[in-house]
Amino acid sequence: MKSTGRCRAHTNIALIKYWGKRNEELFLPMNSSLSLTLDAFYTDTEVVLDDDLDSDEFYLDNTKQGDKETQKITEFLNLFRNLANIETKACVKSYNHVPTAAGLASSASAFSALAGAMNQAVGLNLDLKTLSTFARQGSGSATRSVYGGFVEWSMGEDDKSSTSHAVPVDDAKWDIGMVVIAVNTGRKKLSSRVGMKQTIETSPFYSSWVETATSDLTKMKEAIKGHDFITLGEITESNGMKMHATMLGAFPPISYWEPDSVKAIQKVKEIRETGIPCYVTMDAGPNVKVLCQQSDMKKIEELLLEDFNREQIIPSTVGEGIKLLNAS
Ligand code: DP6
Repeated sequence: MKSTGRCRAHTNIALIKYWGKRNEELFLPMNSSLSLTLDAFYTDTEVVLDDDLDSDEFYLDNTKQGDKETQKITEFLNLFRNLANIETKACVKSYNHVPTAAGLASSASAFSALAGAMNQAVGLNLDLKTLSTFARQGSGSATRSVYGGFVEWSMGEDDKSSTSHAVPVDDAKWDIGMVVIAVNTGRKKLSSRVGMKQTIETSPFYSSWVETATSDLTKMKEAIKGHDFITLGEITESNGMKMHATMLGAFPPISYWEPDSVKAIQKVKEIRETGIPCYVTMDAGPNVKVLCQQSDMKKIEELLLEDFNREQIIPSTVGEGIKLLNAS
């Protein structure tokens, strides 16, 4: 017997960052975070549970993946199989939709789409909140991709997995956009998983990071409630910079920046000085994301084209939460 689930999930960019786990096994974070779901980058995943399969299979963009990658998928699917009390193996096919040359495929959309597809294939009917606790155990940032717009990942209590989940904050349908400046789309040298662990263990700034992220989150939620774009942008930029400063304090120091990242940040500052509100944030890689008003996006793109190539500049509007694609 076969049963199928198909799901689309968009990626999200954190405006208040998650950088560190208090429980590595369960992916429980040190602080709550908040993100914006993006329309331009998403993953479509199909899961077929098939009694005739002897082991799980995993295809990414039509290429069969090796044992290491498949093992990760198996462990993730086991969370659902254990709950449903089944052992049926699965064939997983994932397709990343990212604009050409962007190379910004993310684990956030990947595990969120996989969670949605597996939920459907198994017929568990988990609600979105519970599903986000499953997505979290594939990759922390995937917790937030379950919903669209502005999304909080509430850190939860102690070691209670069910309390650490996504909460939709606002649909962000008030002139919000993001422009990604793709500086370098190669694979990152240090995974966020390893980078955050090293930061917790060695950066003397880490406890201040957690404190400041917590108060930034409170202020940001107020700004979102009041549709106050300037405050939202200022907190976004400041929070991202503080995360990177905390990493620089690690031993050995961690930096994901490249010369073109700095060039992009400076360019955004210049654009801001012309009176267009726009603010940068960066993650565990050299690419720069510009939070802006959707109505300013065209103008910002034009100005960025003075220093970057067309294919390096990817505008995005606000994305929706996970969506089931018709399954048989
Ligand atoms: C800098 O979610 O990729 O993008 O939970 O270990 O899979 P794991 O890490 P991941 O880390 C994301 C870190 C970040 C900030 C953020 O998205 O909040």
